[in-house]
Amino acid sequence: MKILIATVKPFAPVAVEQIREIFDRAGYETEVLEKYASQDDLMSKVKDVDGLIVRSDKIDQQVLEAAGQLKIVVRAGAGYDNIDLEAATAKEVVVMNTPGQNSNAVAELAMGMMVYMARNLFNGKPGTELKGKTLGIHAYGHVGREVARIARGFGMDTFAYDPFVSKTDIINDGTKPVDSVEELYENSRYVSLHIPANEKTVRSINFDLMHRMPRGATLVNTARKEIIHEEDLLRMFREREDFRYVSDIAPSCAETLAAEVPGRFFFTPKKMGAQTAEANINAGVAAARQIVKFFEKGDTTFQVNK
Ligand code: 3PG
Repeated sequence: MKILIATVKPFAPVAVEQIREIFDRAGYETEVLEKYASQDDLMSKVKDVDGLIVRSDKIDQQVLEAAGQLKIVVRAGAGYDNIDLEAATAKEVVVMNTPGQNSNAVAELAMGMMVYMARNLFNGKPGTELKGKTLGIHAYGHVGREVARIARGFGMDTFAYDPFVSKTDIINDGTKPVDSVEELYENSRYVSLHIPANEKTVRSINFDLMHRMPRGATLVNTARKEIIHEEDLLRMFREREDFRYVSDIAPSCAETLAAEVPGRFFFTPKKMGAQTAEANINAGVAAARQIVKFFEKGDTTFQVNK
């Protein structure tokens, strides 16, 4: 059995070591392809592999076609919008993710970003505190829950909107569930986004939602750049001088924002929410174990293309 770890953005070396150990014990061969420059590099490496571990790496129809022996792809992480599920299903390739494994890392980044914006990008001028401020958590999955936990430690007043999570679970966490997404934005000085990118959510964070936020609004995006309606984001910045936006990866309109509204936004140079040794170990090791369980026991827990 041959498994390829293909990561444009590499795991911490300690995570790769632990993944390798799991495959060694199972008697599998491990190959590592990191920081590859093109899809062609990836396509030439997948030809003879049975399993694949990736991060945000693009696994499209072409890659799947090139991987004649492939049986399973595990996205070491939460969002699988980078994988063509239909094409995988058509080729009978099982696709899995590793839900929850990197969520604390992403939640810590979201909180760090809130502090950074509240303190005026650490420019030395007086800022504000998070204590006593309202925080709306848009989607209460693994990351949203971690954000709520840490935010309560900061003394924030936490609200959540998630039609797929029971209100009782949210209340038991000490967070207030709201009935509509509009209500969430109206209540929240900070909104932290934790929705996936799919056909329903792409460009769904629009002016109608953003402009409902109260004065001193900060929108925090550690989810996906694609969920933001960028024309509306520009309009929001232009119409609301108090509005700030912080995101783990820059929007396409970053240059316009730099020219028009400097000091009111911050973007990471590379998606780094899950870029911690701990998150890499958790997600990488989970991915490796899921692959071994799949081959040895036919276990398809965490399959997302059923
Ligand atoms: C995820 O969906 O798990 C996160 O966005 C992390 O993505 P990454 O592995 O590309 O850093």
